[in-house]
Amino acid sequence: MFENKFFKVLGIRNKEELSEFSRVAKVPQKKLKYYNEEVIFPIGEDLRKIIECLDISELELRLKLGIIDNSTLHLIEQNSSQISKLLKPNQDSVQTKINLEPAFKTDKGTLYQADCIDVIRAIPNESVDMIFADPPFNLDKVYESEMNDNLTKEAYLKWTEEWLLGCINLLKEGGSLFIWNLPYWNTYTAEILNKYLTFRHWIAAEVKYRLPIKNKLYPAHYSLLYYTKGDKPATFNQERLPLEICRHCGGDIKDYGGYKDKLNLEGITLSDVWKDISPVRHSKYKTRDSNQLPVNLLERVISLSTNEDDVIFDPFGGSGTTYIVSEALRRNWIGSEIGPIDSIVARFKDIDFHKDQIKKIQNKKNILFTEEMRSLRRKKGHWLPETLGKKH
Ligand SMILES: C[S@@+](CC[C@H](N)C(=O)[O-])C[C@H]1O[C@@H](n2cnc3c(N)ncnc32)[C@H](O)[C@@H]1O
Repeated sequence: MFENKFFKVLGIRNKEELSEFSRVAKVPQKKLKYYNEEVIFPIGEDLRKIIECLDISELELRLKLGIIDNSTLHLIEQNSSQISKLLKPNQDSVQTKINLEPAFKTDKGTLYQADCIDVIRAIPNESVDMIFADPPFNLDKVYESEMNDNLTKEAYLKWTEEWLLGCINLLKEGGSLFIWNLPYWNTYTAEILNKYLTFRHWIAAEVKYRLPIKNKLYPAHYSLLYYTKGDKPATFNQERLPLEICRHCGGDIKDYGGYKDKLNLEGITLSDVWKDISPVRHSKYKTRDSNQLPVNLLERVISLSTNEDDVIFDPFGGSGTTYIVSEALRRNWIGSEIGPIDSIVARFKDIDFHKDQIKKIQNKKNILFTEEMRSLRRKKGHWLPETLGKKH
């Protein structure tokens, strides 16, 4: 906690200095820790006391912490030529490309067993059509790679910005970027992406991933952010889903009243709430730590935003779901995984099994009723397009 910017600016390096600052400034230690750990700018009385104790202005505190509001930005803009002369140009943004050796290759893909930051530096800029990223959630999980999954919030956000900016450079004009994370982290991801890309959707994937928490709403969705480079996507293949019906009796869940015969025979347009993404609990490829995403999630994202032979990059391999689905759907793919890659390689030995699985998923979309749904509804006497006089 003492390596965070807030305590550094306050000159706090240990518990004794924290207690001393708190005593002199008359701000409780608990509040100082909160500002430090949550990367939150103090407001009101706390702010007044802190800047008085430091003997600096609010503007200087903002500049030191990098938490800049619009009035500060306005001041910076007004003085931009003097400020730019004072500051050295940022060399980091022009990263030189590097060479890396692949660890595994297939017909369509290349996997690197390396840190994604290095892999990003090995891929030419503006050469990728779609990026899907499912980073570690910083929940103190044990990964096979033994990576640190318990960074301070400040360090996690700094790292997130680093790989995200790298990914943005790799995208072609019109390319798409998807980020899967907890809603909490994706509020920060969106803040970074909004500066460079066009927001398309915050997709809520309904998954109950934890028990209810006291004094909070029941967290029941993962966030999937969807952005494009430039004002419109190069590829957007509309997806449609079958009508939602009762699993047991086959009956309608919603009342379509007089609109039944107006429903599109190709199904209902996919919305930004996805209810059919179930966590993978049993799979022979599931390693304890890989947080394997379901194949139907990747099938949807990839079909929606790419065409055959496009290039897909996923910086966080895990068990390789993105790579398997890309291969099966004849997309080129590039991957990186910092930890062991055996479970990814093992999945490719069974590529035909995965192709079959994906074919089954595809047979259940872009249609109003699947064959199973039709026979259940017929048996139970519910309407079907042909009973309304529509051609099947
Ligand atoms: C949440 S899992 C991804 C799971 C994957 N989407 C799947 O369906 O199997 C995150 C993965 O990223 C890897 N990882 C973490 N930091 C990395 C880095 N800097 N570079 C490359 N891989 C990294 C972890 O080892 C872990 O396997």
